[in-house]
Amino acid sequence: MKRVAILISGGGSNMVALAESMTGDHPARPCLVLSNRPGAGGLARAEAMGIATALVDHRRFGADRAGFEAALAQVLDAARPDILCLAGFMRVLTEGFVGRYAGRMLNIHPSLLPKYRGLDTHARALEAGDETHGCTVHEVTPELDGGPILGQARVPVLAGDTPETLAARVLVQEHRLYPLVLRRFAGGDRRPVLLS
Ligand code: GRF
Repeated sequence: MKRVAILISGGGSNMVALAESMTGDHPARPCLVLSNRPGAGGLARAEAMGIATALVDHRRFGADRAGFEAALAQVLDAARPDILCLAGFMRVLTEGFVGRYAGRMLNIHPSLLPKYRGLDTHARALEAGDETHGCTVHEVTPELDGGPILGQARVPVLAGDTPETLAARVLVQEHRLYPLVLRRFAGGDRRPVLLS
C-alpha cells in the first residue's frame, strides 16, 4: 500500500478529493496532511477525516528557505511517504528539496500547462480570450510548473466569465482529475489522464 503525504496551504478541497478517493482497492492511503499555514482550513478537514496532520509555519523561518525546507523534510520523512501531492500548496520549493522527492512528487496547477505557469491563471486566460481553459497535474521538477504532464482536464470559457466563475469551473475538474492521476500513478502507470 503506497503512503501519500498531501501538502496544503489553504482550504484543501483537492486534499479532501484525494483523501476520499483512497479507499477500497485503491493502491494508496493518505499518511499525512501537512500545511505551511497555521490557519489552513484543510488541517481541520483532515483531522475530521482521521488523517494525521502537521504544521510547519514558513513564517517562523523568515527568509531562511533552506531552514523551512529542512523542517518540512524532517516532518515528511517521519511519515515515510512514497508519494507527495502538492494540493493548493503555495510555497515555491527549491531544487534541493524537489530533488529529495524526484519522481514521486505531484502538483495540480489551474491551467492547461505549458500555458500560464505561475499565478493568476484564470485572469490571464480571460485576458487572452481563450475559449478553453483547465487544469494540469504534473510531476514536480525544479522548473516551476514545468514537470512531465500526468493529466489534464479542459473546461469551456463562457461569455461573461470572471476569474472567479472560471476558477470555480476549473476546480470541479481538479477534483475529478487529481484522484484519477494519483490512482494511476500509485499503480506505477505514468500515462497521462486526459479529460475533456
Ligand atoms: C486551486 O485553485 C488549485 O488549482 C490550486 O490551489 C487552489 C486551491 O486549492 N492548486 P485547494 O482548494 O486548497 O485544494
